[in-house]
Amino acid sequence: MNPLKFDRHRRLRRTDTLRKMVRETFLRPSDFIYPIFVTAEGTGIKKEIPSMPNVFQYSLDRLDEELSEVVGLGIPSVIFFGIPKEKDAVGSGAYDEHGIVQEAIRQAKKSYPELVVIADTCMCEYTDHGHCGIIHDGDVDNDESLEYLAKTAVSQAEAGADIIAPSNMMDGFVMAIRHALDEAGFANIPIMSYAVKYASAFFGPFRDAAESAPKFGNRKTYQMDPANRREALREAASDVGEGADFIIVKPALPYLDVLRDVRNNVNLPLVAYNVSGEYAMVKAAAQNGWIDEKAVVLESLTAMKRAGADLIITYHAKDAVRWLGEEV
Ligand code: PBG
Ligand code: ZN
Repeated sequence: MNPLKFDRHRRLRRTDTLRKMVRETFLRPSDFIYPIFVTAEGTGIKKEIPSMPNVFQYSLDRLDEELSEVVGLGIPSVIFFGIPKEKDAVGSGAYDEHGIVQEAIRQAKKSYPELVVIADTCMCEYTDHGHCGIIHDGDVDNDESLEYLAKTAVSQAEAGADIIAPSNMMDGFVMAIRHALDEAGFANIPIMSYAVKYASAFFGPFRDAAESAPKFGNRKTYQMDPANRREALREAASDVGEGADFIIVKPALPYLDVLRDVRNNVNLPLVAYNVSGEYAMVKAAAQNGWIDEKAVVLESLTAMKRAGADLIITYHAKDAVRWLGEEV
């Protein structure tokens, strides 16, 4: 056979060095944002989340154990989720000056001033009904919820948050929060918007971790239909127009096509949220010896970057950074 009749792709795959030279996508410690759950329900707490092996709820007095590990690994940023002592209809704990997340932010910035601290801005961990906003006539009231979200964002910025990350999926939330932050003197605090967030079954383990499952109904009137792709571009465009500084696509692995679409249409930094259910599946299979955890995790995270993500919020962050260190 005449060898010139076909392409010899394998030429560039012959050795490890050659493969490294032609590699197109890389993972670095600075790609990662590590999610942390802080609880106000007592002291001395480091409680593992059953469906998320090696992920814990921490009380404030034990938070620095986790932060020192994250900082020591060279992970530049964490995102906080709070479990308050008490919940009510209007999520008072979300915008309490001494709320659990506000206190966690203060402590983290005091112990580690260089760490980029992100505050997730939502109501569902703080409302007794578990929805992401204020309920009126059995549904989440969009415009009324905006006022509460804006208040929450300002209280998080006052506590020292470096970035505000609204995850509630109300229409206009970026505009409302941007306006409130600017009014309060926080024009320099960026908004990382969960712009493209699907009504996904992959959030199940997170709702155990944050004790935030809705008590009635579901989130389908505000989170996106998993079947929709063009709608993601409309959601992203709204948030760009309202002043977002980063765009999040969530979940990550089942939505790589959406990540790529957003990458091709939006020039802001793009963040993939590799969610709790994605994590739980990998951990469960790994614990059974059914997959090679390290290889599967690094391949999955690489795929998210290849699809267009600049940053990845992931519960695998600490392991990934350790494994990347072994690769060299
Ligand atoms: C709060 C919020 C959720 C997640 C991040 N912020 C849960 C939800 O919307 O139900 C999910 C994160 C994960 O599954 O890892 N709105
Ligand atoms: Zn929520």
